[in-house]
Amino acid sequence: VSIRAVEWTEGKVRFLDQTKLPGEEVWRETDDHRVVAEAIRRLEIRGAPLIGIAAGMAVALAAQGRSAASAADTDTAIAAAIAHLQATRPTAVNLTYALDRIRERHAHARAAGRDVAREILEEALLIARDEEAASARIAAYGAELIPDGACVLTHCNTGSLAAGGEGTALGIIRAAHRAGRVRRVYATETRPLLQGARLTMWELLRAGIDAVLITDGTAATVMARGEVQAVLVGADRIAANGDTANKVGTHMLAVLAGRFGVPMIVAAPLSTVDAATPRGADIPIEERQPDEVTHIQGVRVAPAGARVFAPAFDVTPAELITAIVTDRGVSRHPHAEALAAMLRTPAPRPGGGR
Ligand code: MRU
Repeated sequence: VSIRAVEWTEGKVRFLDQTKLPGEEVWRETDDHRVVAEAIRRLEIRGAPLIGIAAGMAVALAAQGRSAASAADTDTAIAAAIAHLQATRPTAVNLTYALDRIRERHAHARAAGRDVAREILEEALLIARDEEAASARIAAYGAELIPDGACVLTHCNTGSLAAGGEGTALGIIRAAHRAGRVRRVYATETRPLLQGARLTMWELLRAGIDAVLITDGTAATVMARGEVQAVLVGADRIAANGDTANKVGTHMLAVLAGRFGVPMIVAAPLSTVDAATPRGADIPIEERQPDEVTHIQGVRVAPAGARVFAPAFDVTPAELITAIVTDRGVSRHPHAEALAAMLRTPAPRPGGGR
């Protein structure tokens, strides 16, 4: 039931247009890296790890079919594609992570006189494989943290529409559900773009998991009733100290989890941990267009002229996070030390990524 929302197929990138879900399942195919960049910007492709996977494949598109071009022109085109993709969205560090891997591979291939386009594609496919393997390991580590018979609450979408394999937080939920430990999932609708209502509910229903959709404001109600035994969310960037940027509303859930004594669990591959960003205040937070708030699915819900503040993400302080589950294990307080130790651990093969 898990879906490959971005795929490489014979010189093209094939992806599911997530803005059309759940109404329509529209698959698009392109050999133009700019189309992939635009799809990332418009959230047709979204979720931190999936953005990285798509960006790697997009550079492979820019590099292919250039046998008639000079090495210098090819290198310029590849660098331009990387810069163009890097500018699509600022918060998810997986984008930078993937593009750095591609840039490095490009440089090595060029220096060694090898086939640059082939090696960039190989690296892009390795990034996808690494993320898929990371999801599986996150699920295995994370499922252990879910108490028997638990109802869990999740925010935004962190499933196969957002990451490699079965996803991060949703991957844990699915693994724990298979182990018979999850009784019910509360999914927040996740305003403004409704990733919870449109995407997470779609994935949960396909997986046959008992799921209840709630508005973002209903989280305290279900927690106060004792109906939530764990909150599970993903991450777009985790600073070196454990402060975590994720879909706006996550910080609010963490405060509630603390208030009601529920574990607040963040799940993300190590490619989401950014050692170069010391703390949450240093994470760039994307602001989206006002019409995403004044309108719901194209229908105006606020009066014309309404002023809007629309950050796409917020930062949850590390102190509010009980556990950070990565593909290298579970970080607990103090997260700064645990994350640093994970980053020092050599990567398991095959791609050797972080
Ligand atoms: O704006 P989006 O839909 O790309 O935001 C996605 C999230 O905030 C996810 O929680 C995060 O990327 C983790 S996905 C495994």
